[in-house]
Amino acid sequence: MLEVRDLLVSYGEIRAVKGISLNVAAGEIVALLGSNGAGKTTTLKTVSGLLAPRSGEILFDGESLRGMPPHLIVRKGIAHVPEGRHVFNRLTVWENLEMGAYARSDAGAAADLDRVFVLFPRLWERRRQRAGTLSGGEQQMLAIGRALMANPRLLLLDEPSMGLAPVLVEQIFETVQRINRQGTTVLLVEQNAALALEVATRAYVLETGTIVLSGAAADLVRHEDVRRAYLGEI
Ligand SMILES: Nc1ncnc2c1ncn2[C@@H]1O[C@H](COP(=O)(O)OP(=O)(O)O)[C@@H](O)[C@H]1O
Ligand SMILES: [Mg+2]
Repeated sequence: MLEVRDLLVSYGEIRAVKGISLNVAAGEIVALLGSNGAGKTTTLKTVSGLLAPRSGEILFDGESLRGMPPHLIVRKGIAHVPEGRHVFNRLTVWENLEMGAYARSDAGAAADLDRVFVLFPRLWERRRQRAGTLSGGEQQMLAIGRALMANPRLLLLDEPSMGLAPVLVEQIFETVQRINRQGTTVLLVEQNAALALEVATRAYVLETGTIVLSGAAADLVRHEDVRRAYLGEI
């Protein structure tokens, strides 16, 4: 479904992503792991068209996304939940969700709004509340809900666990699995490798802009380097 080939992304002189290749097949949850500054966010932003690569290719269903503006990439079926959520603080929950449907031209938004409220009953309870007054966990639910309003086939999630209490993180990850079972493919960026490897089918490990390891999540969990560097073992 998604194929990234030899992707190179720089910020001026700083090379953040140094020629990585990865792929995501329809139906998968693929994790992109790595510590702070590894290039995870840069990779996701490039896939969703917010950053232009220096070189390399991004194919979605075989079609190049090169030069395509973000709203067209959304329309192709890729929705991005950014790091730090970035909900519209002054808008209500309901209005935030409506914003998520802005790029679509079909008539399915009402059904997807129902779907989001079923996945996140909390958002239904808070639908008239301004997003800026929600808790961090609720804002994360809203950011995911807003992305689902674009009816994506591929969901890009950037550090959904960041700053949340463990019980909320569990909830969010369970919901991500549910969303995946409902047919949405997921590319999940996480610093929390233990958690990501629990839900992912496969994973890539990124270090300073380079993929150093990849494979089935079940194998990576057992991999000595992963255990040492990312799972807090000596
Ligand atoms: N806007 C920016 N300008 C300059 N350098 C940046 C910018 N954003 C990120 N970087 C640098 O690019 C590298 C990768 O960052 P990022 O993709 O945010 O990593 P991660 O999401 O894995 O923490 C880091 O060295 C970071 O300092
Ligand atoms: Mg990041």
